[in-house]
Amino acid sequence: MDDGHHEALAVLGAGTMGHSIALAAALAAWPVRLWGVSPRDLETARRRMLRKLDTLTEEGALPDAERGRVLARIDFTESQSWCVEGAALVVEATPEDLGHKQAFFRAVEPLCGPDAIIASNSSGLSPTAIFQQMTCPTRGLVMHFWNPAHLMPLVEVVPGHHTTRGTVSRALDSLRQMGKQAIVVRREVPGYLGNRLQYALFREAQYLLEQGVASAADIDLAAELTLGRRLGLTGPFRTADMGGLDVFHAISGYLFPSLSTEHESGSALRALVDQGALGEKAGRGFYAWSDEASRAMERTRERDLIRWWMRDRGSADA
Ligand SMILES: NC(=O)c1ccc[n+]([C@@H]2O[C@H](COP(=O)([O-])OP(=O)(O)OC[C@H]3O[C@@H](n4cnc5c(N)ncnc54)[C@H](O)[C@@H]3O)[C@@H](O)[C@H]2O)c1
Repeated sequence: MDDGHHEALAVLGAGTMGHSIALAAALAAWPVRLWGVSPRDLETARRRMLRKLDTLTEEGALPDAERGRVLARIDFTESQSWCVEGAALVVEATPEDLGHKQAFFRAVEPLCGPDAIIASNSSGLSPTAIFQQMTCPTRGLVMHFWNPAHLMPLVEVVPGHHTTRGTVSRALDSLRQMGKQAIVVRREVPGYLGNRLQYALFREAQYLLEQGVASAADIDLAAELTLGRRLGLTGPFRTADMGGLDVFHAISGYLFPSLSTEHESGSALRALVDQGALGEKAGRGFYAWSDEASRAMERTRERDLIRWWMRDRGSADA
C-alpha cells in the first residue's frame, strides 16, 4: 500500500458515491475529509465503508492491519468550511439537480482555498452550466467516478468551456495518485461517454421488454453472459476489429433501422416509478429485493470487482 505524502481531499456528500470516493482516496493513502448533511448521513457512510473494508479483507485484497489505517485517514464532518479547508481537491457528490449544484458551488467556492480544484461527480450534466455561478469557473470540472468508486478503475474528466488546461492536468495527476485511470472527454455532451453507452443499452433493453421479445430476466442474462463477459476486455471498437469490420458493417446496415429511437423511458419503467417500486432501495423494481438478496448481490458484485481491482493493481505495479 502506498503511504507516500498526498495532498488532502475534501468530499462533499456522503451517499452512495461520496463514501466510496472517500474510501478510494483513503485506500491510496490520501488524507480525506468527508462532509455529510447530518450525523445519521455520516454514520451510514461510515457503516458502508466498514462493510466494504470487510469485503476487501475477506477477499485478501487488504491486510487486516491496514483496515484501521485506511479508516483513520478519513475525518467525518458536518462543517463544510472545515471539510474544504486546506484541500487541494474538492469533489462534490450531492443530488443530481442542476439548480441545486449551481447554488451549492456558489456557496462552497468562497470556503475553498484559492488553489483548490473544484470537481463535481455529476453523472452527465454540463460542467459549463454546473460551475456557471462560481467566481472562478476556470478551476471547475467534472470528475465522473463510477459506483462503487473504490473499485471501479475509470474516471471521466470533463472540462467545461472555462476550465483551464492547468486545471485538467492537475485533476489528472490527482486521479493518477488515487490509482485511477482517467480519460478526458473532449467535448461536453450530456451523459459524457459511459452513461451514453449505458443508456443506449438501457433504452434498447426496455424496448425489447415492451415489445414482448423476452422477459426482463432473460434480457439481463443476454447482456450479462455475452456482452458483459467481453466488455471488460474489449470495448465496442476493439470487439468490432476482432469480429471483422465487414461483418459489423453488414449487421449495422440491417439492424440500425430496427433499433429503438425512443425519447422517453418505456411504460414498464414509468409504471414502476409511479408505484414507488424504485428498485433495490424500495424492495421492488424489475425484481423483488429482500434485504438478504440485496446484501448477497452487493457482495457478489464487489467480490468480482475486487478480483479485477487486484488484477489492475498487479499490472500497474509490473
Ligand atoms: N449512484 C450512482 O451510481 C452514481 C454514479 C456516478 C455518479 N453519480 C452522481 O453522484 C452524485 C451523488 O449521487 P449519489 O448516488 O451518491 O446520491 P445519494 O443520494 O446516495 O447521496 C447524496 C448525498 O448528498 C448529500 N445531500 C443530500 N441532500 C442534499 C442537499 N439538499 N444539499 C446538499 N447535500 C445533500 C448527502 O450527504 C447525501 O448522502 C449525483 O450527482 C449522481 O448523479 C451517482
